[in-house]
Amino acid sequence: MQVAVYPGSFDPVTYGHIDVIRRANTLIGTLLVAVVEQPPKETMFSAEERISMVRKATAGLKGVKIDVFQGLLVEYVLKVGAQAIIRGLRALTDFEYEFQMALTNRKLCDRIETIFLMPSETCSYFSSSMIKEIARLGGDISAFVPPSVCEKMKKKFGK
Ligand code: PNS
Repeated sequence: MQVAVYPGSFDPVTYGHIDVIRRANTLIGTLLVAVVEQPPKETMFSAEERISMVRKATAGLKGVKIDVFQGLLVEYVLKVGAQAIIRGLRALTDFEYEFQMALTNRKLCDRIETIFLMPSETCSYFSSSMIKEIARLGGDISAFVPPSVCEKMKKKFGK
């Protein structure tokens, strides 16, 4: 496959996301990591901050490009000429949401497939939301996010 899009809020990017990016990068010519500008949920970090964190976390990964998108995902995927959407699938709890999203996107555009990749079991149990809560309460998040994200979160919480 030549081009695929890995979309998400990345609020913030975690080792789970990075694991999916690395796996997808071995299968796809160009992987566009697409940071959604206005996700349905309110974000802790601005789009610029989220992009900058993803950029730092993926520096040196040849074939990976970072972009930002607004509006419908399928429209963005068509605009950039990608053939598929990549999503990470962790536990059963992800399934319902991902299933709904994949089939809705297929209904909107039948030509775009969603491909699910499973991250390593070492990062299959945590989420960005959980990491934000730990950081807010002053806990150590270094097992879940790269050092640059740790620093950014410490600054955010004035620690
Ligand atoms: O990391 P997330 O928050 O699970 O990512 C969700 C995302 C950005 C992939 C999803 O909210 C999305 O695609 N938003 C763009 C708007 C859209 O196309 N909505 C219809 C998809 S069902």
